[in-house]
Amino acid sequence: MIEREKRREDQARVHVSVLADEVVSAFGSSDAPRDGWIVDGTLGVGGHAARILDACPTLRVLGVDQDPEILPFAQDNLARFGSRARVRRGRVSMLDALLDEEGIERVVGWLLDLGASSLQFDRRERGFSFAGDGPLDMRMDPDRERTAADIVNTWDENDLADLFFHEGGETRSRKVAQAIVELRRRAPFRRTLALADVVARALGRGGSGDVHPATRVFQALRRAVNEEGDELVRGLESAERWLVDGGRLVVISFHSGEDGVVKRFLSRGEKDGSFQPLTKKPVRPGAFEARSNPRSRSASLRAAARTRSRLENSTSGARP
Ligand SMILES: C[S@@+](CC[C@H](N)C(=O)[O-])C[C@H]1O[C@@H](n2cnc3c(N)ncnc32)[C@H](O)[C@@H]1O
Repeated sequence: MIEREKRREDQARVHVSVLADEVVSAFGSSDAPRDGWIVDGTLGVGGHAARILDACPTLRVLGVDQDPEILPFAQDNLARFGSRARVRRGRVSMLDALLDEEGIERVVGWLLDLGASSLQFDRRERGFSFAGDGPLDMRMDPDRERTAADIVNTWDENDLADLFFHEGGETRSRKVAQAIVELRRRAPFRRTLALADVVARALGRGGSGDVHPATRVFQALRRAVNEEGDELVRGLESAERWLVDGGRLVVISFHSGEDGVVKRFLSRGEKDGSFQPLTKKPVRPGAFEARSNPRSRSASLRAAARTRSRLENSTSGARP
């Protein structure tokens, strides 16, 4: 089977964009600027980007993702839009430079759909999941030097406990960190299932409902490996620099700490007049979406309009 067909099959099997109708209505609403570029800083397979381009014929998309394995899927999906879609490899924290390199000036929308894609979770060789055994890796960008194994095998006990608590919400993080440090003296951790097993044994429970006891520890490690907190803050700051007046910022987060960062950024924006929040409370998936796409269940979407931007809301608007 040729590569491209295989990619289509893989993607159709595993990836569903979250809150896609809500994303399209945020960028396509009648009072949003409709002539310019949407920056999709977490392009994935390009599901949201394709929906936006289909719904809004005057918009164009610059799609960026740090994972070189995902980009061919996005390229396939967006090929039919021709020059209305550009795809680049890079991180959210590089968006300023990528926009400059692309010579793009008029940015009317900014989308961040945070976290990992189903394609990353479902490939055990990427090490994001304990559903199957894989190397303890978790890098979305393979050029990063530090893997999850590096953190697990070298951080001291207190730092590990703090990480599991703050980035994963694991309330018994000290117990988990202690078990890890004790066991790694015998042999360093290399595989996802070995780590998941130690966490489950340290917590002494089978998890509540369908949540595996290692879920929070794995989330914390993934966030640290990919510096997700810092990437989010830099992505929000870039959005503020680039969006024209009335331009839309849409962020989908899957973690309460992350949603808190977006919420505080927008409250500050409302106070200083740089953003007008369009969602008072985060928008959550409805019952149908939550049932049909279990990964959407923890999603929260916040949207806002850029206000008092120094960039003109005209077709020639350019950054100062
Ligand atoms: C949830 S998926 C996005 C799915 C996409 N919205 C769609 O509908 O197909 C998140 C994607 O963002 C990428 N990503 C996460 N953090 C990133 C960052 N800081 N810079 C660039 N890409 C990032 C991941 O590699 C992953 O492919």
